Amino acid sequence: MSKLILDRILQSQGFGTRKWCGELIAAGEVSIAGTTVTDSRAAIETNGLEFTIFGEVWTFREHIYIALHKPANFECSRKSSHHPGVHTILPEQFTRRDVQTVGRLDHDTTGLLLMSDDGPFIHQQSSPKRHIPKIYVATTHDPVTPELVAELLAGVKLHDEHATLAAVTCRMVDSHRIEIVLEQGKYHQVKRMLAAAGNHCVALHRSQIGGLKLDVLGLAEGEWCYLDEAQLAVLAPG
Ligand code: URA
Repeated sequence: MSKLILDRILQSQGFGTRKWCGELIAAGEVSIAGTTVTDSRAAIETNGLEFTIFGEVWTFREHIYIALHKPANFECSRKSSHHPGVHTILPEQFTRRDVQTVGRLDHDTTGLLLMSDDGPFIHQQSSPKRHIPKIYVATTHDPVTPELVAELLAGVKLHDEHATLAAVTCRMVDSHRIEIVLEQGKYHQVKRMLAAAGNHCVALHRSQIGGLKLDVLGLAEGEWCYLDEAQLAVLAPG
């Protein structure tokens, strides 16, 4: 059992200030199990709670965990400058809940992006100590060669990095596509590694994080879904 006051519930779910939520409730905009609730101080069980607001059904979520198929030409930064931010793809309630990206993809990179309002989850998931593999497919300007694969596996030296950085695994997909698995998430890492190995990345797509595969989620570009416990469990080993 975990009861909360209704205006606080709506506030926690990103519907605005407590005062504004109170006004929505008093105006009859909120119903639970088919009954309009106009008392903003009503204590409501949040476990399994579904509520309707402006005719739309929402499930109470203490935290949200989202997978987004990021399209190109969106920035991960909240203060996006040249392109719209990925948060503009999601309901505005999520921005008010301070949903953030787990790490970043470049504006021109497509693919699997995790987002959440759970700070410890974001921190854990981004920590290099957890060694969570991320799978990228890069389209290259010049043909992929066995030498390129070998060089990325052996490690390349990047500007401003002390140690060489190596792919965990790496394989040729076709003449101009290479799959690269990384455990770190350094700035422009795939593009910089390919450049250091003498090629050039012309397009980049992240297909998988840990055991979570974008194609299994079945999201088209720009689509997103909530992640359930089983999906979160396959994100990180251990
Ligand atoms: N490496 C890059 O170069 N860019 C990304 O967006 C992700 C990894």
